[in-house]
Amino acid sequence: MPIAQWDDYLSVGHSKIDSQHERLFVCINKLQDSIEKEYFLGDLRVLLVDLYRYARYHFSEEESLMRSSGYPMLNEHISSHNDFLVSIDRFIVDERLDSMSLRVDVITFLVTWIMNHIPYVDQNFFMYLKSQEI
Ligand SMILES: [Fe+2]
Repeated sequence: MPIAQWDDYLSVGHSKIDSQHERLFVCINKLQDSIEKEYFLGDLRVLLVDLYRYARYHFSEEESLMRSSGYPMLNEHISSHNDFLVSIDRFIVDERLDSMSLRVDVITFLVTWIMNHIPYVDQNFFMYLKSQEI
């Protein structure tokens, strides 16, 4: 059972960004699956690197939309994205990633972050974007 479930309420009303968000959920669910199946450390790291790369690409897309629309909370939003990437980077190099307790911490962090970021922080920007289009 996937731990991070995509749901329509998470939609920001922008099809390209929604599909990128769905893909982030796919990455997180693959990681959860890898933990349940007790993957080797190297395989788990590969999945974390995939998530890191895809998140970085997705964040740059979101940030360019923010820049071009003059979003006033741009810097705060970039900080939130960067904090996420730094945390994943720390997990990737953490020697304790072989232990189940750190693996559980990884999943808890990812799910908590995404379930707080998309419906609040991202939604805030897309509401601003819509208000600019009127
Ligand atoms: Fe974001």
